[in-house]
Amino acid sequence: MIPVLKGKNVVLGVTGSIACYKAVDLASKLTQGGALVDVVMSEDATRFVAPLAFGSITHRAVTTSLFDPDSELSVEHVALADRADILVVAPATANTLAKMSLGLTDNALVATYAATAAPVLVAPAMDGHMWENAAIQENVSRLKHHGVRVVGPDSGYLASGKVGAGRMAAPEVILDYVRAVLGQGGPLAGSRIVVSAGGTREPLDPVRVITNRSSGKMGHALAEAARDMGASVTLVSASETLDAPPALEIVRVETAIEMRDAIEEACQGADALIMAAAVSDYRAAEASSHKLKKTGGPLSLTLVQNPDILASVEGPTVRVGFAAESRDLLENANSKLVSKGLDMIVANDITELGSGFGADTNKAAILTADGEIHQLPVMSKLELAHRVLEQMSNILIAKEE
Ligand code: C5P
Repeated sequence: MIPVLKGKNVVLGVTGSIACYKAVDLASKLTQGGALVDVVMSEDATRFVAPLAFGSITHRAVTTSLFDPDSELSVEHVALADRADILVVAPATANTLAKMSLGLTDNALVATYAATAAPVLVAPAMDGHMWENAAIQENVSRLKHHGVRVVGPDSGYLASGKVGAGRMAAPEVILDYVRAVLGQGGPLAGSRIVVSAGGTREPLDPVRVITNRSSGKMGHALAEAARDMGASVTLVSASETLDAPPALEIVRVETAIEMRDAIEEACQGADALIMAAAVSDYRAAEASSHKLKKTGGPLSLTLVQNPDILASVEGPTVRVGFAAESRDLLENANSKLVSKGLDMIVANDITELGSGFGADTNKAAILTADGEIHQLPVMSKLELAHRVLEQMSNILIAKEE
């Protein structure tokens, strides 16, 4: 379940491109996220993928014609257009983009587009030369001018066998843009939130680093959730493995010092800083510029302490910390809350099953500066992120009053 999608009416327009098969995956991801997905297909799209494929996934009627006696559109041709919280056209062919840009209404999809007041997102898919074509580019510019958001296309291998720009954006990327659009005007609209993620890497020499087991998943989930709640988000990430979440600003860093500099800059005028990153407490006093060699005996390293970013950063109204502990969870978390002067701390016992580094779930307790303790059950990192942000938002509102 993805909170921002829950119960939302998503109209998914599918047009005649080989990328139709990826739209089945998108319909599935939207449905699994909790959205009610009404698929509208152009006639050519039905040559690539049967309407049954979409209906089987969405458990809802699929519209293929303006004159389909089973379709709600035959009763009231603007029914889907009225109901939509968002219209997503993926894949969007050059032909459909042209019709949309000119206001043509000769099939169920473009008629829905013309009649809807909902935000519209298109994911173009076509051959590279078609995408570069001046008339097609003009149509896309006109659509953008009309407020339509355009995701992609990506570059890569195309169905024609050529390589170039024209591949439909990946379903998970389109999904993220849908989340961002649906989240606009949400409870954090107008807020600027800075989130840190991942484990920093402190070089010892050009090959070795001191690091930790943090995956960055919790921090990335927090950034996505804040975006889904309408905030403008800067994610300062030290994660080496996770992709940049779409529709937010990301700054990639490696060391604690780089993270501090990026956070200090991002925190100017920010409403909140959430430090989910596992920052290395120490770094090598001097990293060797050449690879260290075996000596046949023990090796001593001199480490110096890194600055405590959370305790010293100036700017954000609310500061939220994380405490990953292996014992005396609440006591240790509370002493960090107090010593760093935080508004809130999220404590998690990394020895618990389904909790901590690398997992997709987490079991945490939220402690606030005024002594509240919220013990939460095991839940997905995205759900926990929403709980943390709801709590943070209450503190922010109280402090800004
Ligand atoms: O002191 P400790 O590292 O246990 O505190 C954890 C919290 O402090 C986390 O939110 C972490 O991101 C933050 N932290 C920091 N700078 C450091 C060390 C930790 O901001 N150098």
